[in-house]
Amino acid sequence: MDREPGSRLFYVDSHSLASSKQDASQRVIVLLHGFPLTHRMWDRQISRFATTHRVIAVDLRGFGESRRDVSTTEAKLTMAELGRDVISLCDSLQLTQEVTVCGLSMGGYVAFWLLKHFPGRFERAILCNTKAANDTPEGVANRLRIAEKVLEVGSRFQAEVMLPKLFAHATKTAQPELIANVEEAILKTPAATIAAAQRGMAERDDARLWLSEITQPVLVVAGTEDVISPEAEMREFSAQIPKAEFVVIDGAGHLSPMEQPDKFNEVVMRFLAKA
Ligand code: MLT
Repeated sequence: MDREPGSRLFYVDSHSLASSKQDASQRVIVLLHGFPLTHRMWDRQISRFATTHRVIAVDLRGFGESRRDVSTTEAKLTMAELGRDVISLCDSLQLTQEVTVCGLSMGGYVAFWLLKHFPGRFERAILCNTKAANDTPEGVANRLRIAEKVLEVGSRFQAEVMLPKLFAHATKTAQPELIANVEEAILKTPAATIAAAQRGMAERDDARLWLSEITQPVLVVAGTEDVISPEAEMREFSAQIPKAEFVVIDGAGHLSPMEQPDKFNEVVMRFLAKA
């Protein structure tokens, strides 16, 4: 486990866990979690991906064990700030090679920002259970309302509105411990971080405007039962990315890497193995 000196970011680095030598030819994958979770959502991916890649799983600013720079209730965490943190981390790790970015939902919004603003830093991208479109006016109003309410009553409010929408039917019946872990992660996230990220997501840009400019190979992963980032919407934006491959994971809701880790890992490993 590592924390970049002088940085707010906490991250797990498979390279330092294996304590192998720095190698600029090593392929690297950076994992960006969803909202309001932590790098732990990738627990079932890290060791698998580490068989071929150096894996860096980040706690985005304010989440998990990363320090928070949102001290006032008015603060917001924009996708640009979260994205710049990722670039700073890559710089501090001296990752001179292009890396793969893999983001789920909010992590996907950050990945879209990175592909637009730092295209030369990325070899390929994996966009999981996410949206290219920005929020509708109703969506923005709802986020601002949730932000206020969370600051008033606590993170539990976010858990209450979100948990019923997160999981596929099979997950609800067969994996109660997974649901409990996700609930715990949401409850542990400070209310100020939740509110700030809601406000930041409400302001995110419409990535549909630059889909056709993404030159990297992209894997788009949807879940058949994802009601937050529906399969049809993901299929539609995937078709606008020149080198995209679209995959749907059966029996997955919004958290496909956690709900169906074996199927998820198989499609990602296949994508990563391509020349
Ligand atoms: C997430 O899983 O990161 C959230 O659903 C993102 C969002 O609220 O749009």
